[in-house]
Amino acid sequence: MKFFLDSAKVDEIAYALDAFAIDGVTTNPRHVQVAGKPFLTTIREIAELVVGTDIPVSVEVNPHIMATEAMVAEARKLAAISPNFVIKLQCVEPVFKAIRILNEEGIRVNCTLIFSAMQALQAMRSGAAFISPFIGWKEANAEETRSFIEEVTLIRDNYGFESEIIVAAVRNARQIVDAAMVGADIVTAGLAVYQAGFDHPYTRDGIQKFCDFWDQTEYE
Ligand code: E4P
Repeated sequence: MKFFLDSAKVDEIAYALDAFAIDGVTTNPRHVQVAGKPFLTTIREIAELVVGTDIPVSVEVNPHIMATEAMVAEARKLAAISPNFVIKLQCVEPVFKAIRILNEEGIRVNCTLIFSAMQALQAMRSGAAFISPFIGWKEANAEETRSFIEEVTLIRDNYGFESEIIVAAVRNARQIVDAAMVGADIVTAGLAVYQAGFDHPYTRDGIQKFCDFWDQTEYE
């Protein structure tokens, strides 16, 4: 199970790379806006953090673009900036041809904004290197998501598609564990979600108790 950081904040990404060896980075227009700098500046700074590694960084094409040719042109521009860049394209019909064209040129696509197993199936058939089913948004809409990820994973395995499944819009550790249990390849979550998941109140209680015993015991 790979952990990707869902962020465009350079300091957060640098921290997560160093502190818990994240396997990849995903950005989106919201993350870039929150990071506070122009789009190209932000993605270039992120690229510098991973230079010389094979850590993938998903960068999203202008979401206004809806035509295959324009998607491909923009994807080529972004991919030329860094070999680490995986081009994030939203799951609309023109994207399927764009994925095929970009694949032939060795440009990897992360097909994003996937909310149904059918969308996932078609993105995988088209050859997306990564697909991003969003679970947090579905759960906010009171939809069950574990079986969604199970279906996507089963379909991928049934047909031996090479796409890696990134469970996206992850809000808590339970969702990460569920994704791992159903065999998804990757989760992407914000720094705070990972940090909350690494922590447990019993661990903190235990540390306090053991410190108390330690302090009441001679060392030698
Ligand atoms: C995934 O690649 C997306 O960037 C992300 O998970 C979107 O969800 P959020 O911004 O609502 O967390």
